[in-house]
Amino acid sequence: MAETNLQVLLRRRPQGAPVPEDFEIVERAAPEPAEGEVLVRAAYLSLDPYMRGRMSEAKSYAKPVALGAVMEGRTAGTVVASKAPGFAPGDVVAGGSGWQRFSCVKAAGLIKVDPAEAPLSANLGVLGMPGLTAWVGLEDIGQPQSGEVMVVSAASGAVGQVVGQIGRIRGCKVIGIAGGERKCRYVTEELGFDACIDHRGDLAAQLDRHCPEGIDVYWENVGGVVQAAVFPRLRDFARMVMCGVIAQYNVAEGSDSFGGAPGPNLGAVVRKRLRIQGFIVSDNGWPRYPQFRREMLGWMGDGRLRWREDVVEGLRNAPQAFIGLLEGKNFGKLVVKID
Ligand SMILES: NC(=O)c1ccc[n+]([C@@H]2O[C@H](COP(=O)([O-])OP(=O)(O)OC[C@H]3O[C@@H](n4cnc5c(N)ncnc54)[C@H](OP(=O)(O)O)[C@@H]3O)[C@@H](O)[C@H]2O)c1
Repeated sequence: MAETNLQVLLRRRPQGAPVPEDFEIVERAAPEPAEGEVLVRAAYLSLDPYMRGRMSEAKSYAKPVALGAVMEGRTAGTVVASKAPGFAPGDVVAGGSGWQRFSCVKAAGLIKVDPAEAPLSANLGVLGMPGLTAWVGLEDIGQPQSGEVMVVSAASGAVGQVVGQIGRIRGCKVIGIAGGERKCRYVTEELGFDACIDHRGDLAAQLDRHCPEGIDVYWENVGGVVQAAVFPRLRDFARMVMCGVIAQYNVAEGSDSFGGAPGPNLGAVVRKRLRIQGFIVSDNGWPRYPQFRREMLGWMGDGRLRWREDVVEGLRNAPQAFIGLLEGKNFGKLVVKID
């Protein structure tokens, strides 16, 4: 008899911040793999800010999740059955199988991982899409040089914690920005950033105190008031890595609000010869995954790279946890341990 699948569906499109009623949780029979597919039982689900975009119909770089469909997301788990060459029951895999316990995934969408190398959930964070995002964005756009000043917003989060630590490995002075004293203490004491500023305080004065010489690399995860404070402090030829603007994700479509702040005066881009470039990790990240994984495992092995996860128990709690992610309630990479 088929096992029971548990799924989280998109019931309706949120207006502003998502609420639990935007989701629906259903139980169904587990599916059977077709030719070329693998049946995966997920152990962990990654919750990520981009999912807010998939809930909306606004024009973006990826298609929205259809109403009534399973929410999109990456998981780490075990192969239960396979009709694809190269995969066998018992293989440990990571890939895009959605907010559900069982899923049939095309072999091309899966990465086989060695469970001896790192805990399974790490394949969704430090060794997963967020870690790859940090690595690719710095390699291609940030290009930190020894002695430069780097500022990282959402510094204790999945992407930010890796960005800042790579910045330190590359010899930069690294200043984090995070919400609250606990997160800031973690960023300096555990991750080894040179300083961390609480964005709820006087951000401009703190930036002047910690970066009197200005900023060479700014990693943008937040936008809004954080970006408005950092932007005028960029030095000539600075690189601003436009990774995300989470403060703006719940702003109603069509609103001219900018995450609580007016937009920066982009005239400085010309005057200071700034390079501002946005990127999506899926543009050219995944073909470089083996190189990324090798480098990261080296740094993790010799203790130069640490990571923190925020683990929520049970798939039924995923909607509430995701809502909290957009309010800064997570502390570290947010993953769901699927019951
Ligand atoms: N371009 C790409 O390919 C790509 C890939 C992955 C992620 N991203 C982007 O990278 C950013 C970070 O993602 P992540 O997965 O690492 O998430 P995360 O940092 O683990 O979690 C989100 C954090 O954002 C901060 N935040 C939320 N709302 C905020 C607000 N209104 N103002 C200021 N800070 C706020 C909170 O931290 P504090 O409590 O410290 O404020 C929260 O914990 C997001 O913008 C995401 O969209 C982009």
